[in-house]
Amino acid sequence: MSKVTVIGAGNVGATVANVLAHKDIVKEIVLVDIVGDLAKGKALDTWQQAPIDNYSTSLFGTSDYKDTAGSDIVVITAGIPRKPGMSRDDLISTNANIVTSVVKSVLEYSKNPIIIVVSNPLDVMTYAAFKASGLDRTRVFGMAGVLDTARYRAFLATELNVSPKDIQALLLGGHGDTMVPLPRYTTVSGIPVTELVNEDVLTAIVDRTKSGGGELVKLMGTSAWYAPGAAAAQMVEAIVKNENRIFPVCAHLTGEYGLNDIFVGVPVKLGKNGIENIIELQLNGDEMKLLHDSATAVKEVMDVFDKM
Ligand code: APR
Repeated sequence: MSKVTVIGAGNVGATVANVLAHKDIVKEIVLVDIVGDLAKGKALDTWQQAPIDNYSTSLFGTSDYKDTAGSDIVVITAGIPRKPGMSRDDLISTNANIVTSVVKSVLEYSKNPIIIVVSNPLDVMTYAAFKASGLDRTRVFGMAGVLDTARYRAFLATELNVSPKDIQALLLGGHGDTMVPLPRYTTVSGIPVTELVNEDVLTAIVDRTKSGGGELVKLMGTSAWYAPGAAAAQMVEAIVKNENRIFPVCAHLTGEYGLNDIFVGVPVKLGKNGIENIIELQLNGDEMKLLHDSATAVKEVMDVFDKM
């Protein structure tokens, strides 16, 4: 049975811990925050939910990395949200410093963990974690595609008035405006979505998905946590249970899709070793162009980080 550490006990981190505990598939979850009492409190709260919801996963909150020793999987949600007046580059620098220091502290006590990055801006934070870790690329990747795809599936379910369970879809590329929708790979219980909705409606849904995070920030004054937390927990589940599930994941490409040394969302098989393999779709010319445009946008942000 596995030990999972979640760094950052804010909205997203606490949700990852809570959702994962409910799955009852790991022995122990350690929640870490620089604000130690926050992590302790949220871990204790979720532990007190165990008798009600019937799970045995133990939870422990701390600010001491010694308590993370021997973690099999580490989910990083630590970071600060963009504040008014803060430039994108300032946010990158602040959060990259946080992610880098978190990874170094984690690796002092866990030898070869699988690291799932959730902190934003996602693609570059995953890159920062990968560089700081020195781990194999199969063991450091980011959560964005599972969330973006879930948003897209939820919007389609509303539009079609069908269960979201029956919508299968895949979105590639960076996490943000440049994400790449693939209507060709979207089905409703096997029925191509293009047979069920017209192009204009689909385009509107794709556009709403692209700004799905922003829509929630407008509504709540802060970024989302339920779906992001559940998405990261689902990735942990696929690894812990060695499910070999196919998810879009922010992964380090070394030639796949004609892209080199870049972190971008692509479909992968997730199992006990992390990324078991990257799946290369037979994209058509338009789709490949969108993916490369998205990669160019991500690369610009990675370059900002490299120059810091
Ligand atoms: N080590 C540990 N925890 C830290 C550190 C650090 N160096 N720096 C900040 N934190 C903690 C904060 O104390 C806070 O509790 O990270 C937590 C972040 O929580 P929230 O501010 O509630 O942010 P949240 O909504 O959870 O989002 C976290 O995930 O989806 C992304 O865009 C989101 O980058 C953001 C991250």
